[in-house]
Amino acid sequence: INGWLRYAALPSSVSWPSIPKHIVVLNTTKTSPVYTAGQELQRGIQSILGQGCHISNDKHEESIVVGTLDAYVAAYGKLNESVELKGDGYWLSTGSKTVILGQNERGALYGAFEYLSMLAQGHFSTVSYASSPDAPIRWVNQWDNLDGSIERGFGGASIFFANGTVVNDLTRVSEYARLLASVGINAVVVNNVNANATLLSPHNIDGLGRIADTMRPYGVQVGIALYFASPSSGVQGQANLTTFDPLDPSVVTWWSNVTEQIYERVPDMAGYLVKANSEGQPGPLTYNRTLAEGANLFAKALQPHGGIVMFRAFVYNQLNESDWKADRANAAVDFFKPLDGQFDDNVVVQIKYGPIDFQVREPASPLFANLYHTNTAIELQVSQEYLGQQTHLVYLPPLWDTILGFDMRVDNQTSLVHDIISGRTFDRPLGGYAAVVNVGTNQTWLGSHLSMANFYAYGRLAWNPAEDTTKIHEEWTRLTFGLDPQLVNTITNMALESWPAYENYSGNLGVQTLTDILYTHFGPNPQSQDNNGWGQWTRADHNTIGMDRTVSNGTGYAGTYPPEVAAIYENISTTPDNLLLWFHHVPYTQQLKSGKTVIQHFYDAHYSGAETAQTFATQWQTLASKIDTQRFNEQLCRLKYQAGHSLVWRDAICNFYHNVSGIADELNRVGNH
Ligand code: GCU
Repeated sequence: INGWLRYAALPSSVSWPSIPKHIVVLNTTKTSPVYTAGQELQRGIQSILGQGCHISNDKHEESIVVGTLDAYVAAYGKLNESVELKGDGYWLSTGSKTVILGQNERGALYGAFEYLSMLAQGHFSTVSYASSPDAPIRWVNQWDNLDGSIERGFGGASIFFANGTVVNDLTRVSEYARLLASVGINAVVVNNVNANATLLSPHNIDGLGRIADTMRPYGVQVGIALYFASPSSGVQGQANLTTFDPLDPSVVTWWSNVTEQIYERVPDMAGYLVKANSEGQPGPLTYNRTLAEGANLFAKALQPHGGIVMFRAFVYNQLNESDWKADRANAAVDFFKPLDGQFDDNVVVQIKYGPIDFQVREPASPLFANLYHTNTAIELQVSQEYLGQQTHLVYLPPLWDTILGFDMRVDNQTSLVHDIISGRTFDRPLGGYAAVVNVGTNQTWLGSHLSMANFYAYGRLAWNPAEDTTKIHEEWTRLTFGLDPQLVNTITNMALESWPAYENYSGNLGVQTLTDILYTHFGPNPQSQDNNGWGQWTRADHNTIGMDRTVSNGTGYAGTYPPEVAAIYENISTTPDNLLLWFHHVPYTQQLKSGKTVIQHFYDAHYSGAETAQTFATQWQTLASKIDTQRFNEQLCRLKYQAGHSLVWRDAICNFYHNVSGIADELNRVGNH
C-alpha cells in the first residue's frame, strides 16, 4: 500500500552519521504541505533509522528545518548561498543542520521526500543543491467512472467513486496523494475523460471538495474531466438548457455558474480536462464551432479563478480503408494546426505521445512541432492498456524517452519534445505532462508490484525528463524491495529487457501493437486492425504490409514533420527499421538495414521476444530469499502468466503472417506444427 514509500529499516551493514533529532517546521497549519513534510520526516526517520525526532518551531543548532524559502529568510535571515528556484522547486542542504526549503509550500514537501529517499537508499554524503521541475504541469489523469469502475483500469475499483458519487472513506485517496507528492505530481484529474455530467450536481461538487480537502495537505490539486453537453444533460440541481453551443450566452453563463460553485467549494481547483468531438463525444463541432471556441468557453470560466483547461488533441473520425490517402495519424495536425494562436493563454493542448493511441512504438506526434503559439502537454499512459494490462512486465520509460528526447528540428534547430512541452522552445508560459495512471483499490495500486516502477518514473521524468531511466529504476527498486545489489540489478535488468521483448512479440517494425483493438485491447488479434473504420490499419495482404505515409505516394503524414525529419521518414533508406511499417508499404521480402527481410524479422523477433519473456520468472526466482513471500508469489504468478502468454502471442502472430504471406521461416519454426 505504501508503494515505494516503505521506509524500510536500513540493514545493519549500513552505518550512518548522526542525523538531527529536531525538526523545525516553519508552518504548523495542519492543511499545509509544510506541516505534512514535518510529519513525513518524523515518520520516515523513525522507520528508516529507528530514530525518534521532536517537532517544534523553536530554533535548534542541530536541526532539520523545513519550510518555504521566504519563511526561512524571515525566521533565520538570508542563506549564505544564492538560491534560484522555479515554481514548486526546493533547496536541500544536508548535514548537522539540514535545511529543506521550497519555492512554495509543496516545494518544501518535495524536498522532504527527496531527503527521505536518500536516507532510505543509504545515501548519507552531505549535499547542497537546488532542484526545480522542468515544467509547471505535472498531472495524472484517472479514468474513473462515477459508478466505481475504471476505464482501462487494471488495479481494482475506483478509490474515488462508487454508486454515482464520491466514496465516504477517503483514506486511500490520502495515500494516493502521498505517493503523487513524493514524485512531484501536483494535480490529479479524478474522473474519466469520457465524462459524466452528473459529476456537476451540488452533491457531487461537495464530494469533490472532500477529495480536494484530503489531497491538499500533499499539495495535490484536484481537476475534473467535463462532459461537453452537460448544460443540456439535466444535471440534478443545475439549470437544464436546450443547447450546449459554446457561443450561446446561456451556455456561457451555465459554465461560469457551475465553475463558480466548484471554486466556492474547492478554491484551489486545478482546472478542467476536456475530451470533445472524439470517439462519439459531443463538442463544439456539433454546432459548427471550432475546437478553439470550445476550449475557450472553459478557459474564460476558469480564468478569474486561476484554473486551466487541458484540451485533448485526441480528435479523429472513422475512416474508409479503401481510401489510400485516409490516415488517422493525420487527424490531430489537421484539426489543431489551423487553430494555432486561437487558444486562450490558460488553455493547454494535451497531446498523446504518438499520433495513434499509446502503441508499443510510435513516432513522436508531429503536433508537438506544429503549434508555435499554443501551450502543449504530452499525454503518457502508465496504465498498460495495449501493453499487457499489468499482467506483462513492461517498463515504459525507455519508450517515453524515444518521444521526450526526440528532436523535431523545428526551423532546423534543436527542438526536443521535452523542451517544446516545457514551454522553452516556443517561449510559452505553460506546459508539461499528464499521464493516465488509473490506480485502484488493489493493495498494489496498479494490480502488479513491478508496474509501480512506471508510476514512480513518470513523476521523476515529469520533474526532469533528462534523468536516466535505468537509474530511476534502480532507485525505485531500492526503495521498494531493498538495497541488496543483486536484487537491484536483477529487477532492473528485467525491466530494461521488458519493453524490447514486448515490442518483439506484440508488434515490431512500427506495425503497432497487434492486439485486439475492437474489444479488449488484450492478447493477439492482428486481423482486428484492418477492415474497419478505426484507422489503425496494417494494410497487410498476400505480398505487402505497412502504411504508406509518404508525401510522394501515400497519406502525406511524413510531411507533417519539420523538413529535416520529414525527409528522414519520406525515404525507406533513411527510415529506422523500428518504424518502417509505420511509414512505408513494402513487400514481405523487403530488406531491412539489419539485412533480414521483413517477414524473417517478424519470425525472429517474435521468437526472441518470447524467449526473453521466459527468463523473467526465472530471474525473479533467484530473488526468492530476498523478497517477502507475498510480493514474491504475487509477482511470480504474473511473470509465469506472461511467459505463457508471450508464447501465445508469438505463435498467433507468426502463424497469421505465415498464412497471409505463404513465406516459410528460414529456421522452419513456423507453420509446421
Ligand atoms: C483509447 C482508450 C479509450 C479512451 C481513449 C481516450 O482509445 O481505449 O478507452 O477513452 O483512448 O484516450 O480518450
